[in-house]
Amino acid sequence: MFPGKSTRSARERSAGGPPAVPPAARWHVLALLLMLATLAACRQKMSNQPKYDPLEPSDFFADGMSARPRIPGTVARGELPLEGFLVTGKINNADGDGFPFAITAQVMNRGQERFNIYCSPCHGRRGDGNGMIPSRGLRHPPSFHTEALRAAKTGHFFDVMTNGFGAMPPYNVQVPVNDRWAIIAYIRALQLSQNGTVSDLSPAQRAQLGGAQ
Ligand code: HEC
Repeated sequence: MFPGKSTRSARERSAGGPPAVPPAARWHVLALLLMLATLAACRQKMSNQPKYDPLEPSDFFADGMSARPRIPGTVARGELPLEGFLVTGKINNADGDGFPFAITAQVMNRGQERFNIYCSPCHGRRGDGNGMIPSRGLRHPPSFHTEALRAAKTGHFFDVMTNGFGAMPPYNVQVPVNDRWAIIAYIRALQLSQNGTVSDLSPAQRAQLGGAQ
């Protein structure tokens, strides 16, 4: 941009007067050009910095290669082989049952918290499938209190959370492995809570009910 040339009106040009640009503006233009030149010089340096191209030899390393081998024991992201009940929920390639670690009150509380955050919006706080999201149109999840899901192995729940199930998306990213097991423990507690009978109570508790057998 050269204001001195382009902004002169036709009348000024025909009058042959001096350019209508004060000297201070010229300094600004000069400073701007200088800045651009400096920036261009920086770019040049960055793209020309010393580097090895793929498979280029190097006399710096004893083996003559510029590409370095993996440090033993390192695992690239996504390449960790998943083995064992804890991370697969499988025993001998089939859904396992039970839990890979002890279920303490702390684990149960964590499971309740995680269930209410990640599962209840669809499955409902009681696990009956009547969450807020299906009430607005998403496919209704099944109740956890059916015969089939009460009989389902813990490994099945782990698999559903890890890989998704039909219309349900996977939750393996949001819910890490240990939290998945904590949620399953809480689902088992929910199932008990909805299917309890008087015979589940101790004699003392039955007495409190006022004579119910
Ligand atoms: C966005 C809603 C949604 C969320 C959140 C959700 N689910 Fe589901 N879930 C579904 C739907 C829908 C189905 C039924 C899918 C189908 O049959 O296509 C389902 C099915 C299931 C089943 C039944 C599988 C079977 O064998 O029938 C289990 C178990 C389950 N979900 C567990 C969970 C757990 C645990 C969480 C929390 C980590 C969770 N879901 C979060 C929507 C959801």
